[in-house]
Amino acid sequence: MLAAKKILLGVCGGIAVYKAVELVSRLRREGAAVKVIMTGSALKFVSQLTFREISGNPVAASMWADIPVYNVEHIALAEWADALVIAPATANVLAKLASGIADDMLTTTALAVKAPIILCPAMNTNMYENPVTQSNLEKLAARGLKIIQPASGRLACGTYGAGRLPEPIDIVQEIDDYLRGGSMSGLKVVVTAGGTIEPVDPVRYIGNRSSGKMGYAIAGEAVRRGAGTVLVSGPSSLPVPPGVTAIKVETAVEMKDAVLAEYGDADILIKAAAVADYRVKDICAAKIKKKEETLTLELVKNPDILKELGRLKTKQYLVGFAAETDNLVENARVKIKEKNLDMIVANDVSMPGAGFNHDTNIVKFIYPSGEIVSMEKASKQEIAAKLLDQISAAISSRPERDSQGC
Ligand code: PMT
Repeated sequence: MLAAKKILLGVCGGIAVYKAVELVSRLRREGAAVKVIMTGSALKFVSQLTFREISGNPVAASMWADIPVYNVEHIALAEWADALVIAPATANVLAKLASGIADDMLTTTALAVKAPIILCPAMNTNMYENPVTQSNLEKLAARGLKIIQPASGRLACGTYGAGRLPEPIDIVQEIDDYLRGGSMSGLKVVVTAGGTIEPVDPVRYIGNRSSGKMGYAIAGEAVRRGAGTVLVSGPSSLPVPPGVTAIKVETAVEMKDAVLAEYGDADILIKAAAVADYRVKDICAAKIKKKEETLTLELVKNPDILKELGRLKTKQYLVGFAAETDNLVENARVKIKEKNLDMIVANDVSMPGAGFNHDTNIVKFIYPSGEIVSMEKASKQEIAAKLLDQISAAISSRPERDSQGC
């Protein structure tokens, strides 16, 4: 898969180092040339000799070692690489990368690398879930570094949760997908995010608590996987992920027009936005004065954008979200049917850490067949990654795509 690719592997100090040894072996079996940089902490776990033997190349570990041929080694390695992969990437090294600290061979080289950088975080679950680590990962992802999500399960420290280094075979597959332009390259993904706002008068509006975090995470993940990505967003203070084309809207009607204009040639449409179901019938041209004790606003129904997309659907894979506070699965199933969806992501927004404005969510992917894939509470980035994995798997098993040779 990786024939003639030059992979520079950064190895940090964590118990998962043993898997990095197998990773080198697998990369070489796939045809890649591999050079390894080890941090001082990695050397406490495995000797330099192990990586030298398995990679067939000298291992760089110190900025100050004698070198047989004169060159500025971290720059030479940075220029040699087609990709820098850091596995395992510890919380400490992620923090240094996020801040631009360059105080050893690996972090100095990382600053000099122009090639893609792929990070495989692996650490204790609490360290991984710590907001500082999450914010560092978000910063790095926003700068265009590819993050391979850690696996969940039993960790060496005895806890259960996210933080395991994925199996080397899976890491190799992700590296290959990414270097080929991503597993979603050639696809157009349209994502909606945030809440719509419906004006009452020139200074007031009816809105909801959607921050856009869920939809922005999905758009960021789609673009990292190589998809042409359009984000139709209601008002949100979040930065648009690099590489994403953003269309900013305010009202449900504006969102409908923007989405319909992007729908015809879209391959996947994911509707994470919280669209207002009603709007004010007669918007006041002037600011409403507080003269009366009560104020009555007449509301009219907004268009159901997702229902309209379901009606117009041709080749598109159509995904809705369901924000529920009761009867999650039953209500979501009704929406799948009514809106002709290929999948619905159901979140019970009354649960702690789920739904509006949280950094985390708790979701179930529900299919028209009745199949349900449930996720534990996870960051919105992790949910975005899992969602796109589910969609990619579903699309690749579609009979009509097979017949087109896709
Ligand atoms: O933005 P965050 O703060 O990260 O919060 C994320 C979220 C809670 C907003 C997100 O996870 C979510 O649940 N989004 C859907 C919210 C919603 O409006 O759900 P609903 O069950 O009311 O609508 C069902 C689906 O129909 C949604 O895909 C919605 O976009 C769509 N819809 C709804 C009404 C309407 N008039 N047009 C629509 O297209």
